[in-house]
Amino acid sequence: MVIVLIGYMGSGKSAVGKVLAENLSCTFADMDDYIEEKEQKTIPEIFRDKGEIYFRKVESRYLQEILSGEKGAVISLGGGTPCYGDNMDRIKELADKVFYLKASVGELTARLGKEKDHRPLIKHLSDDELEEFIRKHLFERNFYYLRADSTVNVDGKTIEDIAGEIISGIK
Ligand code: S3P
Repeated sequence: MVIVLIGYMGSGKSAVGKVLAENLSCTFADMDDYIEEKEQKTIPEIFRDKGEIYFRKVESRYLQEILSGEKGAVISLGGGTPCYGDNMDRIKELADKVFYLKASVGELTARLGKEKDHRPLIKHLSDDELEEFIRKHLFERNFYYLRADSTVNVDGKTIEDIAGEIISGIK
């Protein structure tokens, strides 16, 4: 079974994905790690050297590669992966179950405020601008995120709780 986790930056996709894969004894793949390995650069370096359009192009290509190569895995995508080109159609076609990890704007602002420096899309924003940016961005992206098969609210929950909810959702 291929389980895909989607959601905004900072919603916990990678941390939850890792625990989920351990609990299910299956492979774990993280889209950002995969891109970094293939491109031999970090995500901030790719944005800096080649720009976002290049990033989105390779992201789509590697998404297709990961999804068609896995038969039993948990795959955590990048926050923007479902929102470009026909990526969400591919995800729905090739994954058995797609979960949206939904965090509130308040929670995301608190989490991302602490770690925005290595995130190319938000590193230029002041703390005051961050909340407004996330609110608008999330509003635009919700159109894609809400195409997931299930939504899991993550605010105030532990990684183990969230992984447990997902496991209940696939049984
Ligand atoms: C992005 C999210 C990041 C990474 C890139 C772009 C986005 O992944 O792919 O910086 O567009 O939301 P995470 O959601 O894993 O941080």
